[in-house]
Amino acid sequence: MRSISIRSKESEQSAILLGDDPEINVDIDGLSFSYKGADSDKNVLSDISLNIHGAQLVSILGPNGVGKSTFIHCLNKILDPTGGCVRINGTNVQDVSIKDLAKVMGYVPYTSTDNFPLSVTDTVLMGRHPHSKWGSLDDDLRIVHEMLQLIGIEDLAERNFNELSAGQHQKVMLARGLAQEPRILFLDEPTSNLDVRFQLEITRMLKRLSRQKNMLVIMISHDINIAAKYSDNIIMLHGGGIYALGKPQDVITPDNIRHVYEVGADVIMDRGRPHLILIDDDDTDYDDDHEYYVVEKVAVG
Ligand SMILES: Nc1ncnc2c1ncn2[C@@H]1O[C@H](COP(=O)(O)OP(=O)(O)OP(=O)(O)O)[C@@H](O)[C@H]1O
Ligand SMILES: [Mg+2]
Repeated sequence: MRSISIRSKESEQSAILLGDDPEINVDIDGLSFSYKGADSDKNVLSDISLNIHGAQLVSILGPNGVGKSTFIHCLNKILDPTGGCVRINGTNVQDVSIKDLAKVMGYVPYTSTDNFPLSVTDTVLMGRHPHSKWGSLDDDLRIVHEMLQLIGIEDLAERNFNELSAGQHQKVMLARGLAQEPRILFLDEPTSNLDVRFQLEITRMLKRLSRQKNMLVIMISHDINIAAKYSDNIIMLHGGGIYALGKPQDVITPDNIRHVYEVGADVIMDRGRPHLILIDDDDTDYDDDHEYYVVEKVAVG
C-alpha cells in the first residue's frame, strides 16, 4: 500500500530501523526547524506532521526559500530538528548512528559543488562506503558499473569527475546515490541540469526503481509538470508548513499554484495527470500582433 497523509497521533511503535521490513513507514511528528543566528526565533519549518507509507515516488514542491532542502536535511539527519522528530518504522532517527542511517538512507544533494579529484568510477564507489567490508571490492565495483549502466554513463567511467559538464555531474551523483542501495533515497532537484530527454528518463527511472527495489524516493523539484507526471504523491510547502498534500491531481490545481507561487495557471489533464500551463498576468509587455523582433544575419565584410 502506498499512502501519504497528515500524521495520525496514535501510531507509536518500536522496531529495528527497517531491517528486512518490507514496508517503509516514515513518520514525521511536529517537526520544526530554525537556523541559529540572526533570525533564530523565526522557524523555517513549523510543526510539520505527516506520514509516508510504502515504496513510492514523492515530490516536494514549493517556491525558492520555502524550506524544501531544510526539510530533507531534517529527515536525513544533516540537520537536527529544533522540535519534533522523525521515525522510520518506529525508530527515531536521532537514536541511529550516521553510519547505520547511511545503510538505509541515500542522499543526492543539489548540484554538487563538491570537488572530487577522482574518476567517475571512484566517485560512485564512495556510495558503497556504508556497506564496505573486507573482500567486497569486486562486489562493490560490480554494483558501481551496474549503476553507471543504469544511468547510461558507462562511457564516463574513467573520466575525471571535475572535468564533466553540470548534467554529467548530476548523473554521476545520482549513480552514487543509487550505488548506496538505500531503502529511502532523497534527491534535491535531481534533474535541474538535465536536458528534457533525461529529465523524463531519470524521473521515470526513479519511479520504476521505487517499485523494483521497494524504495521510497523523495525528491525536491521545481519542475511541476515532471513531478505531476510521475509522482505517486506530492507535498507542497508554503509558509513553513504543508499547504497541500496528496495525489498530483489534488495538489496541482490553479488555486494552489496561485496561492503558493503567486502566478496564474491553467491546469489541463493529460493521460490522467495534471499539466500546468502558466499564465502571465502581467501581459502589458506582450505583443498581441505576435510581431517579434527579427534577428537578422548580418553579412560581414
Ligand atoms: N545555513 C543556513 N543558515 C541560515 N539560513 C539558511 C541556511 N540555509 C538556508 N537558510 C534559509 O532557510 C530558508 C529555507 O532555505 P532552503 O534552502 O531550505 O529553501 P528551498 O526551499 O530549498 O529553496 P530553493 O528552492 O531556492 O532551493 C531560506 O530563507 C534560506 O535563506
Ligand atoms: Mg533547495
